[in-house]
Amino acid sequence: MKRLISGVQPTGGIHIGNYLGAIKNWVKLQEKYESFFFIADYHALTVKQDLETFPEKILNTAINIIACGINPDKSPLFVQSHILEHVNLGWIFNTITPIGELNRMTQYKDKSKQYSENINVGLFTYPTLMAADILIYNADVVPVGEDQFQHLELTRTIARKFNSVYKSGFFKEPEAIAAAGARIMSLTDPSKKMSKSGGVNGYIALTDSEEVIWQKVSKAVTDPNRQRKTDKGNPQKCNLFSLHQLFSSLEEIEYVDKGCRNAGIGCLECKKILADNINEEIAPIREKISYWQKPENKKKIIEILKQGADRVRPIAQENLKKIKQIVGLIEM
Ligand code: TYM
Repeated sequence: MKRLISGVQPTGGIHIGNYLGAIKNWVKLQEKYESFFFIADYHALTVKQDLETFPEKILNTAINIIACGINPDKSPLFVQSHILEHVNLGWIFNTITPIGELNRMTQYKDKSKQYSENINVGLFTYPTLMAADILIYNADVVPVGEDQFQHLELTRTIARKFNSVYKSGFFKEPEAIAAAGARIMSLTDPSKKMSKSGGVNGYIALTDSEEVIWQKVSKAVTDPNRQRKTDKGNPQKCNLFSLHQLFSSLEEIEYVDKGCRNAGIGCLECKKILADNINEEIAPIREKISYWQKPENKKKIIEILKQGADRVRPIAQENLKKIKQIVGLIEM
C-alpha cells in the first residue's frame, strides 16, 4: 500500500476551504492509502499565537478532522511537535536548500506582507520543515489544496538535492493530490483564497449554524456585472457558482446556470439553494464536533493524539537514524 501524509495548521475551527481542498479528500483517500494526518503546530508558531487559546485550537482542530470522517483507528492522527524527528530532518534540509529557492515561495512573500511586524526565520524556512514532515515518512502522496502545490514542488526539489548530494535514490519524490475544490475563494473578496485571516464573513466554518451560513452566503460577492435580477449573469464569473458545483446536485447546478444566464432566477434564490446545500452537508459534521467537544469526549481526543504519535514515531526514528548516518553524523 502506498503511503499518504497531510497536515493542517491549528486555526481551531476548519473552514470549507480546508474541507473541500483537503480534508474531504483525505476521508476518501484513507481507504486507498496507508494514511497519516497531523496538526502542524510548529508551523503555526511562525505567526504570533494567543497563548490562552492556542492549546485549545490544537485540540479543536483534531476534533474537526475526526468529525469530518477521519478514522484515527485506521489512520494515525498526531501533533507535529510530538514527533521531534520532523524538526531534526528540517534542519538537515536547511543545510542543502538554497536561499533562492525559499525566496521564491509565494506563501512567504504573502505572509511577510500580511505580518510585516513579524517576518521571522521560521516563516522563511517553513517549506524545509514541510518537506521534512513528508519525507521523514517516505510518503508517496500528499493531498493538499492548490496553495500548497509550490511547497510540494520544493519538497521534490529537496528530495532530489539530498539524493544528489548524499545518496542517489534515497528519497522518492512525493506527488501532490488535488481535490475538486483545490482553490476555494473568499466570500467577501473572490480574488483571494478563503482563509481565516481574511475576516469572519469571508469563510464558512464547519461549526457555523444554519443561520450564520445564510447570513454569510446572502452577503457574499457575486458576478459584479449582474446588478439587477433582470440582468443576464455569467455563472463562470461568479464565486458562488463554483461553490454550487461542489455542494449542489446536477439538476440544481443546471437550474442555477441556466436561470442566471437568461435572468430567470435572481441571486437571492441562487444563494438560498447554495446555503441550504452547504448546511445539509456540514450539519452532520457540526453535530459530531459538538459531541467531541463535551469534556468527557475531549479526553479521548488527547488519547487518540498520543496513540497516533506512538504509532508513527518508530517510522520517523528509524528513517532519521538512516539519514544521520548518510550525512556523516555519529551515533553513540
Ligand atoms: P493549511 O492549514 O493552511 O490548510 C490545510 C489544507 O487546506 C487547504 N486549503 C485550501 N484548499 C482550497 N481552498 C482554500 N481556500 C484553502 N485554504 C486551505 C491547504 O492547501 C491544505 O491542504 N502548510 C500546510 C500544512 C502542512 C502540510 C505539511 C500539509 C504542514 N506540513 C505537510 C501537507 C504536508 C498549511 O498551512 O495548510
